[in-house]
Amino acid sequence: MIQKPKGTYDVYGKYGKKVLYIEEIIKSLMEKYNYEYFRTPIFEASELFHRGVGESSDIVTKETYDFKDRGDRLNTLRPEGTAGITRSFVENKMYGNHTMPVKAWYYGPNYRYERPQSGRFREFYQFGVEVFGSDSPLVDAEVISIPVNLYKLLGLKGLKVNINSLGDSESRNNYREALKKYFEPYLDSLCDDCKVRFNKNPLRILDCKVDAEKDIIKQAPKTIDYLNDISKKHFEDVKSYLDAMNIDYVVNPNVVRGLDYYTHTVFEVEADVEGFGAQNVLCGGGRYNGLVEMIGGPKTPGVGFALGMERLLTALDYEKIDLDIPECIDCYIIPVSEDEVGYAINLCNRLRLSGFSVDIDYNKRNMKANFKQADKLCAQYVIIIGSDEVNSKILTVKHNCDKQEFKVKEEDIIMFLDDHDNCCCE
Ligand code: HAM
Repeated sequence: MIQKPKGTYDVYGKYGKKVLYIEEIIKSLMEKYNYEYFRTPIFEASELFHRGVGESSDIVTKETYDFKDRGDRLNTLRPEGTAGITRSFVENKMYGNHTMPVKAWYYGPNYRYERPQSGRFREFYQFGVEVFGSDSPLVDAEVISIPVNLYKLLGLKGLKVNINSLGDSESRNNYREALKKYFEPYLDSLCDDCKVRFNKNPLRILDCKVDAEKDIIKQAPKTIDYLNDISKKHFEDVKSYLDAMNIDYVVNPNVVRGLDYYTHTVFEVEADVEGFGAQNVLCGGGRYNGLVEMIGGPKTPGVGFALGMERLLTALDYEKIDLDIPECIDCYIIPVSEDEVGYAINLCNRLRLSGFSVDIDYNKRNMKANFKQADKLCAQYVIIIGSDEVNSKILTVKHNCDKQEFKVKEEDIIMFLDDHDNCCCE
């Protein structure tokens, strides 16, 4: 049997309903925030990710799915959304003719060749936003509020918002030098990857999965102590705006994030419930004021975040949160014999176009099996179509819960169903 690729999963049944439900909530939330929907290709020129995500990130060094197309171009399946959205912003010259800031939201699959484990997949879905063209700390705070509000709307309670600041390029450079000085005497005790990071991007040593528990990492200098006045003010403002929105957070100097492009604010929201598991970071993001330039656009500040759908669903399960997903359908139609199928499917089609959820017996079941099927589908009404109904155009409609029977003129059926829209199964 051919099996799905390692690190991927199929969506169906209840899980599929939950995914669709959450996608709808995301869409509606993004309308409220007045963000614009963006969709970029699932594959891009490999160079974009080398420049955009960073040569020293684990993603680019070890995890990309690269392939040459028939024209010998090197492409990469996107490992994250920020680089592609930024490319789109630059390529479509949105800096010139768009009202700033450009506030983009996106949702879709990403690919990383990681070791699959709970909460870590090779194909996973992200919802994220990217905002271009504003330096304001108000935007940093707004971006942080988006996942927090989404999680709250869905009912999650065990959340911890960790924030930190890497500062502007001057602060970041000072910090980088301080880290190099600090780590130099300990180089031999670091893992091989960290030895490379030491030269390329020493900040990345701080979120190394191998060295994480070592004292030298824990006692390393903290970004916050190297912020210049401008960076300090920016961070203070972000915090005050979070306070103003009543968003609880913790300043956590260990949050440096695994991608190279961040400046100023970085943040992660983690599931703060006991026993959740190692992959407890539900989302992450931050400011990246140099990225647009790196990708070939004019100097433009940016800030964004992305959250993993799979981890969100795990968190909902973990907190035993039942989403308010409609399980029932409005009608189940039973054609009594082959002769009534045409009439029944015509009615079914009209009801569906009028906004009702309708299913029909495709399998010529007997009456008993059909009522069982109606129960299984949690149908509110069962419409039975026999020759009498076809001839008289008076339909036999049963309330599935108590089996109360109604005779309804065909032309009145929509009004009738509209009038009786309480699900008898609730
Ligand atoms: P990231 O931290 O690499 O950031 O990913 C964001 C979220 O995607 C993670 O917190 C996690 O929920 C989910 N995620 C990442 N990798 C996997 C995986 N292998 N399996 C399941 N879920 C995963 C970014 O991707 C940045 N582009 C975020 C950003 C946007 N920063 C600024 N703008």
